[in-house]
Amino acid sequence: MEPFKKRVWLSSPTMHGDEMNHITEAYESNWMSTEGENLVEIERIICEKTGCRYGVPLSCGTSALHLAIKLAGVKQGDNVFCSDMTFGATVNSVVYEKANPIFIDTEYDTWNMDPVALEKAFEMYPDTKVVIVVNLYGTPAKYDEICAIAQKYGAIVIEDAAESLGALYKGKQTGTFGKYNVISFNGNKIITGSSGGMLLSDDKEAVDKARKWSTQSRENAPWYQHEEVGYNYRMSNVIAGIVRGQLPYLQEHIAQKKAIYDRYKEGFKDLPVTMNPYDESTMAPNFWLSCILIDEKAMCKQERSDTTTSFVTEKGKTCPDEILQTLEKYNAEGRPIWKPMHMQPINRMYEFVTVEGNTRECNVGADIFHRGLCLPSDNKMTEEEQDKIIEIVRSCFE
Ligand SMILES: Cc1ncc(COP(=O)(O)O)c(C=O)c1O
Repeated sequence: MEPFKKRVWLSSPTMHGDEMNHITEAYESNWMSTEGENLVEIERIICEKTGCRYGVPLSCGTSALHLAIKLAGVKQGDNVFCSDMTFGATVNSVVYEKANPIFIDTEYDTWNMDPVALEKAFEMYPDTKVVIVVNLYGTPAKYDEICAIAQKYGAIVIEDAAESLGALYKGKQTGTFGKYNVISFNGNKIITGSSGGMLLSDDKEAVDKARKWSTQSRENAPWYQHEEVGYNYRMSNVIAGIVRGQLPYLQEHIAQKKAIYDRYKEGFKDLPVTMNPYDESTMAPNFWLSCILIDEKAMCKQERSDTTTSFVTEKGKTCPDEILQTLEKYNAEGRPIWKPMHMQPINRMYEFVTVEGNTRECNVGADIFHRGLCLPSDNKMTEEEQDKIIEIVRSCFE
């Protein structure tokens, strides 16, 4: 097999042309700042699409998370329960406020926060007031269970829906289950502005406050008047033009991502692997990334240090790092599963809560990290290219 001439990406931006029209409008009307029609429009469209009542476009998902943490009233020394298998941005927002993240282990059904571990965490720390829940790779978490537990302990939920725009749980859009919700328009997301994000909430007062904080907390006065600390977190009207041009294609992108997921599932049906799972009766993911988990019995020996990997090839067996290196050899981009937060050197001093029988070393997140990987999931990948990816992955099991 020849390597791909054109690289096959994990998830790259898919532009349609309308983006350029909205950028040009911004340019020609000279609305080249953090105000303008594109911003007004994406705020309206996202609220209409998700069903959340209010939203504010921001520089990125991380700034939206930071403002959500501030709105939740998180202070220095507070505990915040946090999904363990996520991208570092989820946790950074907590640390910015000098609070203590406590990581909650993952469950195998959706690869998201385990409600059983969450309940245990509340039994250990009943005064915790905030839970940040991530919808990993576009699959919703188990919100019925998680929200009921949070409510029982008087805590609020912040939904990090950075990866799951357009995904549904029981027919309701993700990005609406928290008191405060976050989406991202980062370059690899299902809808992108090259960067950007949004904070969503049904609480108008909270969104107004976040809007004010995001523009350096300027008071309503003839001069620059400040009563509290502020941030430069607004989105530019040019970025908003890209997002505005992308939004009509959300459903198309989801359909393409779902087709990719389904084709992988079919292509691997006789291999000792499973796909990143979801509950078909309650969930419609946006299928942002397609992943596989290799059965324990088909794993060759794989050892990862903090920054390097080694594995021993074995007939009939493989491991994520062998598959990733093989994909790379053919000019295709995969990625390891997001390394759990409790395993990150920077988070060593923070607590990790898992279910009965597991430990900090031996738990669900560590296992999925060890045996799983993200496959090329770019919605411009052709069927022929995907067939070849499938063949490459299959060859690793020979
Ligand atoms: C789960 C999750 N949370 C937060 C973020 C941060 O979003 P941004 O890159 O827009 O700051 C990302 C991705 O980038 C993410 O995947």
